[in-house]
Amino acid sequence: MSLVITGASGQLGRRAADLLLEQHDPSDVVLLTRNPDGLADFAARGADVRRADFGDPASLPAAFAGATRVLLISTDVVGERVEGHSAAIDAAVAAGASLIAYTSIPNPAPSNPAAVVPDHAATEQALRDSGAGWTFLRNALYSEYRIPEFQGAAASGTFAYNSGDGASAYVSREDCAAAAVAVLLGGDEHAGKAYDITGAESFTGAQLAELYASVSGRPVAAAPVDDAAFVAGLEAHGIPAPAAQLIASFGRAIREGQLNQVSTAVQDLTGRAPVALRDVLAAA
Ligand SMILES: NC(=O)c1ccc[n+]([C@@H]2O[C@H](COP(=O)([O-])OP(=O)(O)OC[C@H]3O[C@@H](n4cnc5c(N)ncnc54)[C@H](OP(=O)(O)O)[C@@H]3O)[C@@H](O)[C@H]2O)c1
Repeated sequence: MSLVITGASGQLGRRAADLLLEQHDPSDVVLLTRNPDGLADFAARGADVRRADFGDPASLPAAFAGATRVLLISTDVVGERVEGHSAAIDAAVAAGASLIAYTSIPNPAPSNPAAVVPDHAATEQALRDSGAGWTFLRNALYSEYRIPEFQGAAASGTFAYNSGDGASAYVSREDCAAAAVAVLLGGDEHAGKAYDITGAESFTGAQLAELYASVSGRPVAAAPVDDAAFVAGLEAHGIPAPAAQLIASFGRAIREGQLNQVSTAVQDLTGRAPVALRDVLAAA
């Protein structure tokens, strides 16, 4: 039996690997990464660290050999991921994996304008078609992505957002990692399930402004803006246009009620409450 984590040197992958090694015999743990040297600390703990690059399909059969349960962490170049994800799924299935858990997004439907949706929807479909058992870990937007926003709002006294009156339940990477490991270590009960991995509480833009003021101890005014003004503001702060459009697409998705899920999945899977957004901000 081999429990496999792909992308194990990323921020989520590294934490998932750490939690898995705390809870399971390292000799069953296989960590895949493009950069095995970066995981020498995990190799020293007994994990089998192997090179895998989804863009290099020839690297994948040996990487996935012996895999039984796989955490497939979505890669990071939006719009160019489906081919690599599909190659990884094919290699995991060829190795005989019985379950592949994939990090997706809540509500990856055509109605959802978040720019990452098409990649996730196509990968979920590839998993449904793969013949292997699958679990969709539909991770909400990371709480950690609110940190620079929080710091900017606290410094300037204004929080501009294009999410209107929409709300979203941001989730910490820690909770995403813990939930993923719970699925890896679980049994057949997770096959065919799609879990929305969210925080316990959703926040509108106005509520975020209040939270940013409360945590920083400084006044923060809520400033709802439209998409064009939001993108222009990001670009004025040096964010390249494609990234600004991507970020704005999440605000639009929240505004349109497409990312408003609040679930108990973190509690149900890990046995503990999600980390509060307030605590993530305070720690930063
Ligand atoms: N929910 C959210 O708010 C949110 C925000 C940002 C991103 N995400 C998604 O969640 C994923 C994990 O988040 P993160 O914070 O850990 O991101 P990250 O630190 O940027 O990590 C990027 C991940 O992509 C993997 N990767 C990139 N190219 C690859 C390739 N050719 N073959 C195999 N793996 C490849 C990396 O693996 P190695 O470096 O180990 O090879 C690493 O695990 C991201 O990649 C992205 O799909 C979600």
